[in-house]
Formats: sequence, structure tokens, C-alpha cells
Amino acid sequence: MCGIIGYLSTSPGVSKKIIHNLKKLEYRGYDSSGICLLKNDKFFVKKSIGEIKNLQKKLNFNDDYTCGIAHTRWATHGKVNLKNTHPHLSQDKTWAVVHNGIIENFLELTEYLKSQNISLSSETDSEIIPQLMSINKNIDNIEKLRNVTCMLRGSYAICLLHKNEQAIYIARRHSPLYIAQNKNSTMISSDPVTFGEDYEYYYALPDDCLAKVDLKDISVYDSNLKKVNIKPCEVGSFEKSAELGKYPYYAEKEINEIPKIIDGLMLNYNNVDHFKNIDKEFIKNIKKIKLIGCGTAYHACFMGAKFIQKDAEIEAHAEIASEFRYSNPLIDQETLCIFLSQSGETADTLLSLELAKKMGAKTIAIVNVPYSSIARESDIVLPLCAGMEIAVMSTKAYNAMLVVLKLLSEHLRKLNGKPMNVDISELQNVDYFKNIDKIDEITDLVLKHEKIFFIGRAEDYVTALEAGLKLKEITYINCISIPSGELKHGTLSLVDMKSLVFVIATDQTLLAKNLSSASEIKARGGKIILVTNLDVPCDMDIDYIYKFDKIDSSLSSILSVIPFQMLSYKTCVKLGYSPDKPRNLAKSVTVE
Ligand code: AGP
Ligand code: GLU
Repeated sequence: MCGIIGYLSTSPGVSKKIIHNLKKLEYRGYDSSGICLLKNDKFFVKKSIGEIKNLQKKLNFNDDYTCGIAHTRWATHGKVNLKNTHPHLSQDKTWAVVHNGIIENFLELTEYLKSQNISLSSETDSEIIPQLMSINKNIDNIEKLRNVTCMLRGSYAICLLHKNEQAIYIARRHSPLYIAQNKNSTMISSDPVTFGEDYEYYYALPDDCLAKVDLKDISVYDSNLKKVNIKPCEVGSFEKSAELGKYPYYAEKEINEIPKIIDGLMLNYNNVDHFKNIDKEFIKNIKKIKLIGCGTAYHACFMGAKFIQKDAEIEAHAEIASEFRYSNPLIDQETLCIFLSQSGETADTLLSLELAKKMGAKTIAIVNVPYSSIARESDIVLPLCAGMEIAVMSTKAYNAMLVVLKLLSEHLRKLNGKPMNVDISELQNVDYFKNIDKIDEITDLVLKHEKIFFIGRAEDYVTALEAGLKLKEITYINCISIPSGELKHGTLSLVDMKSLVFVIATDQTLLAKNLSSASEIKARGGKIILVTNLDVPCDMDIDYIYKFDKIDSSLSSILSVIPFQMLSYKTCVKLGYSPDKPRNLAKSVTVE
């Protein structure tokens, strides 16, 4: 979840470089941040609560340090305060650590440390790492790190400094860590986006491996301390595409990028045959398809399952990754598991992928980050080509997921010998933002009502779920998303004059049923906003109709979510909250 930077340089003044790059990772965690610099066998530590700019104020960028580690935290264990902010030092001040992840057995290890007369000074799970490193002074540091990591359960990416060495020790399990080197410097980072400016190549530390890194060497070992060779990856344009440009917030920028991204995505899939390995042979024995993800990516899974069942006529179900793992999933060689993830690092999705592989299922990853763990571990990768997504609220990646899922469902349909259902290139002629300026008025209606509901049927129900998640996560407004048909089975009891209900209707065959649901709400005093691209009978008693552009109903969900993404953004800004960094959340959820 958090951001980690480690940096070694031939010239002094490293704090400026470290902070500059830590800021690029701030979207991964922003509860607090800290830095540890090393010189003459002494650590210099500074910490701050809140955004990294607060830490920056405490630093003198003309320092004479050549080595340091830093962290931006998303707290899992212990409150957000200075004591719990990383870096953490061992009691004897020989080791300093920054850690991303969760050490699940930290209570047990704390007891062990107590037996060694070491007590912790923070409430974090992370502090046990430098404390454990400080025991057994007589063994080599890399061996010591191996022994300590063998004691840890859970997930981690760790960067450690020893007070007597101008080197950084690193290790990882289920949490990414990367290394880049040029003739003047070496950088460790939890995201290669930091390498764009100074490096041509970088290396991914393999899972369950550890390394000692200095200005000249990168020595990587597996858990048996056998040397491991790692291959360089080129720093590509993806890592360089995170500039804010003319926009005040990434959320606004990323929603506005949707048309360009979908055009680029279609062009890419026209030029590159990403489906070449999904052929008749690949799907020959596939009896069912599972689509697995979390949060917004799960909503895309839900939509994808509907696309695949309708288009390809193959049994398809969506699963929430954190539930899938504990559901005794009945999967085998005849199951295709498709994993959806913007970041490609979400812990529950990654662990579900491992489970699916163990059970013999075939795997496809639909991911935005091409170098991510989920991409690396899957049989086939279908890229989203959405460019870096920085705002915690996922928007453009969701639209791109729906497009790729539609392309895939049509491809599976073709393999089943059926003609194309819809011409997806219709998306190129559509106005994605038709009537978007009307969202301002709707924002005012949202703010005037105490209870907000989103309802729809079939694909529109999935859009209702995603609309609700968008609103909750950045405006903190409590809202409910349910299938229209479920209203009268319980939730209708909540509807009264304080209620605003968004009815989403994009399927002509279901319009009459949706309008009946709207009438039921009106009869109880609720206000209705109909979000549709259909022609609606003018005698209907609807308070507000928001019309987006017309397109074949099987593609409508790619458009119908956009007004809701914009509604959440505008409401958030009106309320004075941060659209890019909502409270309690982080972009990449690398803990279970
Ligand atoms: C959505 O706005 C959230 N950021 C969240 O639901 C997110 O989609 C989820 O955590 C999954 O992330 P992933 O796509 O990177 O796997
Ligand atoms: N579990 C650690 C903590 O709460 C690390 C959290 C993180 O990944 O930022 O400090």
C-alpha cells in the first residue's frame, strides 16, 4: 500500500532526490511519511504526519548524505502518529527499516523479542524487523536477513540500512520492489514510476528473494541464499505518463482521458493480436469462466460475466477475490479464471490467482500495469493501455476494463462459431461527455437529500454498484445500490421524501420495468433522476432525466458510468474534500 524509496548516490544531497520520488508514490499511502539518512555510522531521521510536503518542510535539501531510505505510510497496525511513522530503528540503533505490508505473526515475534530484552517503541508490526535484525550480531547481514524473513508470516517489501554500510538490504514477499542503477546512483522503489527520469532499465526483485544493493552491485539471493540472476526491464512510456497537466486533480484528468484511452485501446487491439493464444484449443475444454477482482475491478468482473454469458454463451460468474479464496472454489483444468486489476498488485486478487493456478485452472490477467505481479503470474495478459492511474478512485481503468471484456466476449463468441453481436468500433463515434455540464445541477440535488439510492437491472445494476462505490469513496456520503427488482423486497421501506433515487435504464426491453420501479419510489415521496440514453414516454412522472449519448445497448455501460464518475468528483470538490486521496484509502491494496 505504501511507497518505499531507497537511494544511494556518488554525490551528496540525496534527500532532495528521495523526496521528489517519494512524492510520486504518495498516491499509494498518505497517512504520514519519514526519511532516514546515513552518514558516519549515524542515522538522521525525520518524520511527519499527513502529506509529504510536511516532511519536506523539515528537511534541508543541501544535506551531505549519500544514502537514505524513505516511506509514505498507509497505516495497518497502530494509529497515524509520529511514533508509528516509518522508518523504524532497532533498539541498539544499528538498523533502520521501511516496510510495506503486514507481518501477521508480529504479536508472537514481539513475545520473542521480549525474551531477548527488546521492547518495541511503536505500535506497528514493522518495527519487529529491525529489532530482529539486531539480534545475533555474529552472522553475515544477508544471512541474517534471510533468517529474519523466514520468521515472518504475511506480506512485505522491506528496505533496511545498517549503520556501518553504504548499502541497502531489501526483501519481498507478495509486495513489489524494484531496483534501478546507473553509473552515479542506485534507486530502490515500490513502483517503477520513479525510474522514468534517471534510468533506462530496472529490475523486479523476484518474490521471496532478498538482495544487497550498493552503488556498483545488485546481489540477489533466494531463500536458500543461492544467487539469483534477474533480467532488466526497459523503463517504458507507461512509467512516464503521470503528469497532471492542466487539471487541478488527477480524478478530473483521468475521467477526461476516457475517450482518448478507449480510442487508443481499440487501435492497440486492432494492431496487436492479444487474443492469438485464446484460440479454439485454449477454450476447447473450458466448461465455466470465473472473473475475479476487488472493488471497482470486481464490478468490471460482474459486468464481464454478464457480457460473456450473453455473447459467448459460456457459464460465467464474478467473484470477489477476498471471498473466492475462502469459498472452497470448485475449479479445475476445465475452468478459465480471469483476473481483473488496475494495479496488478492487489493482494487478494494475486493470492486468488496463485490458488487458481494450483488447482489447475487456465488464467488470463486483465491489468493496467504491464510489469505487475498479476501480469507476470498469468498464462495470458490482456493489457488495458489506460496509462498510469493516480487518483485512488478508479475511473478510466474501469471503462478500459469494460472495453477489453467486450472485445473478449465477442472473441469467445466468434470461437463458438457465432457472428458478431455488436460492432465495437461504434464507440469511436460517440460523445462520451454529452450533457456532462448538467452534472453540476445534479450535484446540488445530491447534497440536498439525506438518502441516496442507485438502482438498475442487468448491466445497469452493475453500473448502480459502481456509481455507489464512486460516491461513497470520495464524498463519504452513505448510499445504497440495489437491483431495481429487489426494492420491494426490503429496501423500499427506507424510501421517503428525503430520498433521491438514480434509476439507470439503458435497455429498451427493460425500460417499462424500470419505470414501474420509479413509480413505486414516487408514490413514497422519493425524487427520481433517470439516467438513460433511451427515448422515454413524456407523460412519465420523472423529476429529472439525464440523457447520455445513444449507442447499442450492449455497449451502453461503457458510457453510462461516466456521469456518475463525474458526479462523485464534482460533489467531492463542492464538499471541499480531496478527490485524489480520500481518507482511509490507498491506490494499491497489497495487504489482505
Ligand atoms: C476503486 O475506486 C478503488 N480504488 C478500489 O475499489 C479498487 O478498484 C480495488 O482496490 C482494486 O484495485 P485493483 O484494480 O488495482 O486490483
Ligand atoms: N503495517 C505497516 C504499518 O502499519 C506498514 C503499512 C504500510 O504498508 O504502509 O506501519
